[in-house]
Amino acid sequence: MAFVHLPKPWQSLERDITPESAFFNRRRFLKSLVGVGIAGATLPLLGCQKAVPTAEELANTEDLEATQNAVFADPGRPITNEILAATYNNFYEYGSSKNIWKKAQSLQTDDWKVEVSGLVKNPATYDLDDLRKKFTLEERIYRFRCVEAWAMVVPWLGFPMNALLRAVEPTSNAKFVRFTSYFDPRITKGPSFPPGQFLPFPYTEGLRIEEMANDLAFFAVGIYGHTLPNQHGAPMRMVVPWKYGFKGAKSLVKIEFLATQPATFWNALSPNEYKFEANVEPDVPHIRWSQEKERLIGPGNQFAWQEVPTQIYNGYGEFVGGLYGKG
Ligand code: MTE
Repeated sequence: MAFVHLPKPWQSLERDITPESAFFNRRRFLKSLVGVGIAGATLPLLGCQKAVPTAEELANTEDLEATQNAVFADPGRPITNEILAATYNNFYEYGSSKNIWKKAQSLQTDDWKVEVSGLVKNPATYDLDDLRKKFTLEERIYRFRCVEAWAMVVPWLGFPMNALLRAVEPTSNAKFVRFTSYFDPRITKGPSFPPGQFLPFPYTEGLRIEEMANDLAFFAVGIYGHTLPNQHGAPMRMVVPWKYGFKGAKSLVKIEFLATQPATFWNALSPNEYKFEANVEPDVPHIRWSQEKERLIGPGNQFAWQEVPTQIYNGYGEFVGGLYGKG
């Protein structure tokens, strides 16, 4: 396999920073801000002009009803500004920069289906209506930590992965789960690397079945009170907040229950940098940078990068420590 040299966070950070943006949080702030003229302004960026998306451009979503889960209502940090979160993304199917939100709009999510198969008693193919009817949606505000050492706080809407486990009933041979993202090279064109270099699409991720059964493991179908915009992984993605963000595969089309550990996208590309387990651990440095601190997107509506200490398991040790003999 050819090794691909991807831009690393510290190389791309400065280039990708959007210095100022507008609040866009439908449930909490939108009504007060749309129409006041800040959305759509262009702002200086390292000598260039960078367009800030308008609320309308980012509003290609529908409102979703969900009850707030009180256990995950207080993340201990302010929720990240919605426009900042929606314009600073990792989604290599649309390119290797953080600024892929516009390219991701080419994905069509009508008639979406998610196939659940492998070592389960009740294999099923769900469309989005099935998912919303079968699983009660809740809102959970989770801290989110990328392996690149940036972090945010996001109100996800969705349902716990263990609700799906109860529906499909894995057999006793099922030990791992592979999650596969949508891939169609006509739409998810990937980054424009030199010929000969390639990425192992489709993007896949994996969990041990006990990890999937943990109360924290979540499927998100929404964010900030509405359906997921494409750049966040519409229409359904994984959220495993005690692990680095790359474990959260976006735009899921397949979930397979397996007897053995599956190969996964980043781990296949660079196993020393991106472990299968990938728990947030401040004392375990990435091979090229420390993980002791993280940089919060924000505060407010600015990319000012507040630095804070990284917490073991991203602060979720009371929920997941037991999985790793540290409970
Ligand atoms: N899922 C797919 N299919 N493709 C990707 O490139 N990037 C991962 C993860 N899920 C990625 C993906 C990484 S590295 C991170 S940090 C998060 O998505 C970013 O999620 P966000 O853009 O919604 O903040």
